[in-house]
Amino acid sequence: MEVKLAKTAGFCFGVKRAVDTVYNQVKQPKQLPIYTFGPIIHNEEVTSDLEQKGVKIIHSEDELEELEQGTLIIRSHGVGRRIYEIAESRNLYMVDATCPFVKKIHKIVKEASEKGDFVIIIGSREHPEVQGICGWCSGDYTVISTEKEAATLSISEGRKVTIVSQTTFNLVKFKYLVAVLEKICYNPYIVNTICNATQERQAEAGEIASSVEAMIVIGGKNSSNTQKLYEICKKECGNTYYIQTLKDLSAQNFQTVCTVGITAGASTPKHIIEEVQLHVRTNF
Ligand code: F3S
Repeated sequence: MEVKLAKTAGFCFGVKRAVDTVYNQVKQPKQLPIYTFGPIIHNEEVTSDLEQKGVKIIHSEDELEELEQGTLIIRSHGVGRRIYEIAESRNLYMVDATCPFVKKIHKIVKEASEKGDFVIIIGSREHPEVQGICGWCSGDYTVISTEKEAATLSISEGRKVTIVSQTTFNLVKFKYLVAVLEKICYNPYIVNTICNATQERQAEAGEIASSVEAMIVIGGKNSSNTQKLYEICKKECGNTYYIQTLKDLSAQNFQTVCTVGITAGASTPKHIIEEVQLHVRTNF
């Protein structure tokens, strides 16, 4: 069996860095409680493993306010300034695993706000990354994700505007919304802060799927980026299978094929990808 494994399968740089950070903290000798602000990653296997190692998840500012001591790890999505302030007031030891690409957005909106700019964030307002970015805007700002929201935005004449994007926003849609905003904003400062890790993973998945007889997409069933990968691969290769772990793989589907492609969503740990790859290479 020839196996084509996507180089971009699994964790992006920022998520890998955040997950490694938590495991490194767990290994530290001084053992005060360890908390993450929100789950470090949307993968049950990883979060329950960390839970067994004593890592607790904090879900809200209120919960954070009640902590007495311990280490607080910030995940790759980042958080607003207020979370740092609460952690400091509670004397928590902070370990910041915010992805540097997200940190850059915090810096842009913070400086823009301080200069008096109106900040427009293109993204989904419910997404924790966007909520974190909002938390660094000290002046006027808004979050938009649709053409209607862009076209109906009211900004006073001559007001300077800075536009950024959620890192995982769709590039085509971002450009389109920027074009709409350019009609109503005077000379806006536009920073394309989209991270290309997702696009690269999707492009590579599509390329591989178009050149193999069967394709395996690995990821959590609730992972939206894995679902998207599955759709892309299915379009290119009818024999595409969506699995969570090796247990879901049925050898029957691969009896008549000679080439198999493998990719995985952003929250799929490396060992699961390797286990599937090894199994396909040696048993199919
Ligand atoms: Fe990942 Fe950071 Fe990009 S978390 S998707 S590398 S912005």
